[in-house]
Amino acid sequence: MSHHLAATTPSVRPSSTPLPLPLQRARPLSQRANSVATRTGRKPVASVAAAAASPTHRVDEMSEHQGIPERVAVVTGGNRGIGIEVCRQLALQGVTVILTARDEERGKAAVESIRSESNLSDIIFHQLDILDAGSRASLARHIETRYGKLDILVNNAGVGGVAVDQEGLRALNIDPKMWLSGKAAHLIESVIIQTYDEAVKCLNTNYYGLKWATEALLPLLKKSTSGARIINTTSLRSELQRMPNEKLRESLRDANSWDEARIEAMLSEFLEDMKNERLEAAGWPMMLPAYSMSKMVVNLYTRILARRHPEMRINCVHPGFVKTEINWNTGVLSPEEGARGAVMLALAPGDGPTGCYFDQTKMGEAW
Ligand SMILES: NC(=O)c1ccc[n+]([C@@H]2O[C@H](COP(=O)([O-])OP(=O)(O)OC[C@H]3O[C@@H](n4cnc5c(N)ncnc54)[C@H](OP(=O)(O)O)[C@@H]3O)[C@@H](O)[C@H]2O)c1
Repeated sequence: MSHHLAATTPSVRPSSTPLPLPLQRARPLSQRANSVATRTGRKPVASVAAAAASPTHRVDEMSEHQGIPERVAVVTGGNRGIGIEVCRQLALQGVTVILTARDEERGKAAVESIRSESNLSDIIFHQLDILDAGSRASLARHIETRYGKLDILVNNAGVGGVAVDQEGLRALNIDPKMWLSGKAAHLIESVIIQTYDEAVKCLNTNYYGLKWATEALLPLLKKSTSGARIINTTSLRSELQRMPNEKLRESLRDANSWDEARIEAMLSEFLEDMKNERLEAAGWPMMLPAYSMSKMVVNLYTRILARRHPEMRINCVHPGFVKTEINWNTGVLSPEEGARGAVMLALAPGDGPTGCYFDQTKMGEAW
């Protein structure tokens, strides 16, 4: 894979937390007293799906008592792809949806399209760039003032971490099976443009942005009377079997020994190795390295959060290989199909699984 490393410090770095961070030694955490995220076995999947579809879990309009909707959801990156479909499907279930997008025009157009095509009114727009601290705070203030709580957060926004020569990619004619197997890695070397700046942007957006958005909205999620749901969008690329470094792979399986500081240290090490063109030698994933790392740490963060907030249902979901802009429309599923897992988890009952990984609507094992 050819790396065109930027000589300068990446400009995409948001002001609130610096990235890339200075290379630090990964620091093991002493075992926490907190219990491990409740994993209620494999069976709840069916009951989650059933409960989500059940009329008792549907919500109709506003609660008459307070004028506050029974369930309010925020979806990040809601203007296109899987995000807009998550918004539509949640709104169809009677949830009041705040469709967010970093670009106001694109976001408002998405809301309009859902309102007109699906004849839904309980969907509103609010600007949110997950990398902008002011934008995150403004959204939180808006929700606090208007609803006083948040019930569902779907962290969907994401970027691929690479640029691509689209014509070259089309000419390669890679079939979906090849993509999914990871065997396309060497084939696409010639058309993928992997830069250090893109890698930083990818880690910033997919992990740090998701974490910062969650932190900004956590005080409101804690006020949910139905027990909040957080759904983090991950990817098949996050599966630990794709991590060549055996020692790191084994360590990543044990979420109890990780916290945010240790994740940051690992990501700094990854970026340092990328800068020095030693990703392969150090055993990092070679297929979409920054993207894969970003989603591996999204999984870890999901488990850390679930452990920390047992009163919430916090899970991550791989939407499937969906035809959207992030994969240059090479996917095989429709965005409608890709949204189903996130929607199922958003509507899951209060005793459903938490700290788990879902491959679309089925519980899977990424670690
Ligand atoms: N498609 C797949 O096969 C697949 C597979 C596995 C996982 N995923 C994950 O699914 C999620 C949705 O992706 P998608 O397939 O629907 O791709 P997409 O069509 O490219 O959508 C990505 C969305 O993220 C938004 N976004 C990017 N940076 C943002 C930021 N800083 N603040 C707010 N929004 C931002 C984009 O907004 P703009 O329009 O402004 O750029 C866009 O709305 C991603 O997390 C992706 O990693 C997708």
